[in-house]
Amino acid sequence: MPTEHVVACLDHRASLRREALPIRAVPATSSFTGFGRERPSPIHVVRRIALIAGAYVIVAPCEIPRIRDDRSSQRRVRSADRSFNCDAGGISMSERIHAVVIGGTSGIGRHVAESFAGRGCDVVITGRTEDRAKGVAGEIGGHTRGLGLDLTIPEQIPVALADVYKVDRLVLTALERDHNTVRDYRPADATRMLTMKLIGYTTVIHTLAARMSADSSAVLLGGLASHRPYPGSTTVTTANGGISALVRTLVTELAPIRFNVLHPSLVADTPYWSDKPQACEAVKERTPTKRLVTMQDCTEAIMFLLENRSVNGVNLSIDGGELLI
Ligand SMILES: NC(=O)c1ccc[n+]([C@@H]2O[C@H](COP(=O)([O-])OP(=O)(O)OC[C@H]3O[C@@H](n4cnc5c(N)ncnc54)[C@H](OP(=O)(O)O)[C@@H]3O)[C@@H](O)[C@H]2O)c1
Repeated sequence: MPTEHVVACLDHRASLRREALPIRAVPATSSFTGFGRERPSPIHVVRRIALIAGAYVIVAPCEIPRIRDDRSSQRRVRSADRSFNCDAGGISMSERIHAVVIGGTSGIGRHVAESFAGRGCDVVITGRTEDRAKGVAGEIGGHTRGLGLDLTIPEQIPVALADVYKVDRLVLTALERDHNTVRDYRPADATRMLTMKLIGYTTVIHTLAARMSADSSAVLLGGLASHRPYPGSTTVTTANGGISALVRTLVTELAPIRFNVLHPSLVADTPYWSDKPQACEAVKERTPTKRLVTMQDCTEAIMFLLENRSVNGVNLSIDGGELLI
């Protein structure tokens, strides 16, 4: 093992680098920046955190496996393999796939986060409050941690995500529902939802883009209300239409990172719909497959969009053929 300077910062990550403590403390300065497209080394990570926090970093020599910045073909193969079992072969924290699920405390987001965690990935989930996010992260288990992040206040997003230092897989699924119609339009409610779903999602991607690599990918959740409005869906329809278009600029501006969108029909076993059997039955009745979309269907589709390296800029609907009727 090569000897390398490793840093520990006065936050939760210090525990991950316990072996590095204690040696000396130096103030963070602007010379500590080092985040580019390349895979960040641990020292860059903590320097970045320290810079944001205006804090001190502790620098200590210790023995660690060197993290390679280059992406050899061998590494790419391993990357593809481990995406479905990060713990295989005793992979370390720095080597595991790092997944972030915005809105991972409930519904589809939680289901996806559980899938990542079950594969041994390093998972960050977010909800509006840190307490709830941490509680759900504890329930999911594995290498999962929770962060508080309110997408309706975009200017706070960079701070909330400051210690998310590496992103291989990003899923944006958060939603605060708005029931609104054109005739009885409530602009304030519409503004709140459109801010969270369009400005909020974009600000998250803006914040995390520099921590993603050429192999990273992201999926945004839209929904079929964009194609098939229902009473009160005016804002949801608008937001989902915006997400469908947003993916095009994400793909072109942030290439080679891949971005795709999933548009499910009504997902019957989500908390929102699972106690509304009449609505579920109506959709089931008109769906050619005579079955409703499930969270498992969504997770499988999200994993396909994230992992297939030729799928980019796609708006994928999963609806059992409902839109054909
Ligand atoms: N459910 C469906 O049938 C269906 C159908 C089509 C499309 N979709 C799409 O799929 C996605 C997930 O839907 P779902 O029903 O599974 O969601 P859900 O169970 O309602 O969960 C919503 C998530 O968003 C978070 N959240 C809410 N407001 C937020 C805010 N202001 N800032 C940050 N996070 C916030 C919640 O966190 P906390 O509660 O912890 O704060 C929670 O993690 C949505 O984007 C939706 O448009 C769903």
